[in-house]
This record gives sequence, C-alpha cells and structure tokens, in this order.
Amino acid sequence: MSHLPADSRSRVTLPQLHGWHHAGRKLVMVTAYDSVTARIADAAGVDIILVGDSVGNVCLGFENTLPVSMAMMNHHFEAVARTQPTALLVADMPYLSFHLSIEDTIRNAGSFVQRGAQAVKLEGGAKRLPMIHALIDAEIPVMGHLGLTPQSVNPMGGFKVQGKHKADALRLVEDAQRLQDAGCFSMVLEGIPAELAAKVTETVQIPTIGIGAGPHCSGQVLVFHDVLGLLPGSSPKFVRRYAQGFDDLTGALTRWAGDVRDGGFPDDRESYKAAR
Ligand code: KIV
Repeated sequence: MSHLPADSRSRVTLPQLHGWHHAGRKLVMVTAYDSVTARIADAAGVDIILVGDSVGNVCLGFENTLPVSMAMMNHHFEAVARTQPTALLVADMPYLSFHLSIEDTIRNAGSFVQRGAQAVKLEGGAKRLPMIHALIDAEIPVMGHLGLTPQSVNPMGGFKVQGKHKADALRLVEDAQRLQDAGCFSMVLEGIPAELAAKVTETVQIPTIGIGAGPHCSGQVLVFHDVLGLLPGSSPKFVRRYAQGFDDLTGALTRWAGDVRDGGFPDDRESYKAAR
C-alpha cells in the first residue's frame, strides 16, 4: 500500500483504484473546486478528486445544486485540472447535463474528458441506465451515485436520509446491482443507513464510496470545505471536522487588518529598498 506524498506518486488510474479496492484498502475521495483546493487535496495524497456540483452551494452561494450549469462546471473543472493532480480526477455531471438525450449526455461528459477528466459521476439509479450505457460505450468511465441524490431535492421533499424503509432499501440494492452490471466502476452512496450501505457494499464487487452512509463502505468522500471547517455554523451529523478553517482564517485576517490599522504592517521585512 502506497502512502507516498503526492509529488512522488504517478497519476492514479482506474485499474490501480480497483487493485487497491481488491487489496482491501479504503479509498479516499474529496471534492475540489479550484486550483487551491485541488493542490491541498492532492498534497494530502487523496486517491480521488471529485469536482462536485456541490460547487453550487459550497462556493457559488446557491441553495442547492440545481442551478449549476455545464459552463460553471467546466470553469471550475479546468481550474482543478490545470494543477495536474496525481489523484484520479472525476467530474460531476450537473443537473440537466444527462437528462435530455444520449447525444447531449455524451457531448457534456466528453467535454469533461477532453479537459482532463478520467471519469464522470452522475446521480440516479435504474432510470439513468441508458445514459450510463451510452457513456461507457463512448469510453467514458462512470461513477454512480445512489441514496440522497441532491439533484432530487424536490421529489425527495428536502435533503432526507433515503432507504430507511424496507421497500426503498431493496430498490436501492437493486439499483446498485444494475449500476454495476451497466459497467459503473464505482458508486457513491449518500445519506443512507449504515446497515444498508453495508448490504450494498457486500452485494457489489465495485467500490462503494460513502458520505453519510456509515463506516462499512469501500471508501469515504467528504466536501473539502466540510472536512476543513471552512464554512461558518454547524456541520451535518455525517461530517467530522479536521480543522477549524473558518475560525482560524478569520482570526488570521483580523490580526492582519489590526496590524494595517495600527501601522504594524508592512515593516522593513515586507518593504523594498532603493538602490544605493
Ligand atoms: O457534488 C458533490 O460534492 C458530491 C459528493 C458529495 C459525493 O456529489
């Protein structure tokens, strides 16, 4: 198992990812939305960077992911791709980018691939199978996404844990099996009971990547800003903060502002001297 720092690793590939999964190594995925977050994620040695459509609510001030367009995703994806991360680079298909027609779906996913994506992720189960088949036929690897799929916020009636009841849980296990049979190389399981995620993980051979889906998935994903505590206020139950980014950074900026106001910044160390 390699835990080498990012700059001494070569680019993660899909066969490598499957090798790690079959060797029992837990997979680590985190979101990134620009070159700063991508550099930090890659330096931390994560296995997969997802340019998520959560960019909409995390960075762009939308209430949910529904307003995120291909143009917005391409803008953020390009910033991440320019850093040439060693992690496997996955682009999230935003709402309406894979709903209209097969041709449109391939064109949108293909535009991510041409910008450096090694795979795309899309939300949904059985009803998305025709699009998934078409993408895989077009040599575009697909990561599925089941459970609390944020693009379904309206039919779900809010961001609610899914698969709590037996019939829904059974449907989700069937969907997982179908995604695997269609050729998905892995799938995100979001916002489902831990027991159901464990059942899916033992049913399918491809890696499951959990978020709010308990400890029994093949790997875990979190939103960059959540792990690092970059957003104000409390976090959802499934998040563990590994830094108090918002408080620490606000404190640092406040100290700098104070230094500017009382004349302590800049001093000689930050100033240039004229030639003698
Ligand atoms: O967009 C996103 O951030 C995601 C992850 C939470 C899986 O889809």
